[in-house]
Amino acid sequence: MGNNDYLERCTSLAILGGTFDPIHNGHLAIGEAVLHQFKPERVLFVPAGNPPHKPDKPITQAQHRYQMILHSIGNTPGLDTTRLEIDRTGISYTIDTIKSFKKICPPNCIIYFVLGQDALQAILTWKDATDLLKLCQFITIPRPGYNPELLQAQVKELEKTYGATIHILTSPLLEVSSTHIRKSIASGKPVSALMPHEAETYARKHGLYNAVMPDLSQEHFQWVKSCIKNRLTPKRFKHSMGVVIEAEKLAIHYGADINKARWAGLLHDCTKEYGADKKRVLCEQWGIEIDEIVESHIDLAHGLLGAESAKRHFYVTDEEILQAIRFHILGHKNITLLDKIIVLADFIEPYREDYYPLKEMRSLAYVDINKALSLGLSAMRDIDAARGKKLHYWSEDAITTLKGQIL
Ligand SMILES: [Fe+2]
Ligand SMILES: [Fe+2]
Repeated sequence: MGNNDYLERCTSLAILGGTFDPIHNGHLAIGEAVLHQFKPERVLFVPAGNPPHKPDKPITQAQHRYQMILHSIGNTPGLDTTRLEIDRTGISYTIDTIKSFKKICPPNCIIYFVLGQDALQAILTWKDATDLLKLCQFITIPRPGYNPELLQAQVKELEKTYGATIHILTSPLLEVSSTHIRKSIASGKPVSALMPHEAETYARKHGLYNAVMPDLSQEHFQWVKSCIKNRLTPKRFKHSMGVVIEAEKLAIHYGADINKARWAGLLHDCTKEYGADKKRVLCEQWGIEIDEIVESHIDLAHGLLGAESAKRHFYVTDEEILQAIRFHILGHKNITLLDKIIVLADFIEPYREDYYPLKEMRSLAYVDINKALSLGLSAMRDIDAARGKKLHYWSEDAITTLKGQIL
């Protein structure tokens, strides 16, 4: 593959553009779905040389991206790639690419251009869009959870107004993200289920995505922080950052690991805002066992889920951090200094609105952490009891442990 001589005799061709940084199983699934549904002679992966839509983002050298595609498609019938865009200087505009293929292929060759639903919606902003829409046929890939009527209406509108021919890819597709793969490789996580083995081997051999994010580094922290900011409401994100600040201070005061305290603070509520159904489904999917009390107040599972999410989504493997996240709501019998710091920081972080016994806990926090915490957990127990809620035995155990450690 990679020798494109057949194009001169080709009767139908589907062009799949993108940065492919790196190519993954989602791309290959699209290629195969297009082959199956539209039966072009070839689906051609066309890696962008200098794409107009991502000018600020550094992308991996074109030569490497091309090689990964080449290694991935191997001899798969019907799939191929070309250096057409990467060998061209200047910005890679789709209209120029299509015109190039029109010149190479016979005049009766049907050319499809494959693009995502979001790209289709923005197509009128592309260079020479009105010409482009008449130049070839389009195959659009619906985004997950799309509204079929809405997409149909958009397609009809473009067809009616601009004389375009637009098809919709109907096969269910794999959701894989190149960004996720880059981060995973960078932090030493497996990606074999997400991309072809040949491309992974190539990427690792050439150290393509290794240059970032050593575990728990400042860079790793900043990346997770931006993810958490997107995931949480502004109020919950502010609270989480408040816990980071307070946890750092407490760690300095009590001689605990400051970095671990910051990490646990940042991630402690990362699943707090998932809905009740999502929490239940994830507990099952992730094999998290929950008892009757947690089952009846599923929000209590957000510590257990948070630790799992920290591991799965943010590549935190440090067991002390995960434990502090896991037990930040309920505490537990063998509560460690880091666990105590996170529970207490959660209670007293600087943005907390006043409640009983906030003032009392703040005045004890830097005097006797055990006293401050047992006061907080006991007050929580009393509030729950007044509401007819039973205290979780982990919290009962934590209170007993803390009282035994009060100086
Ligand atoms: Fe929480
Ligand atoms: Fe919290």
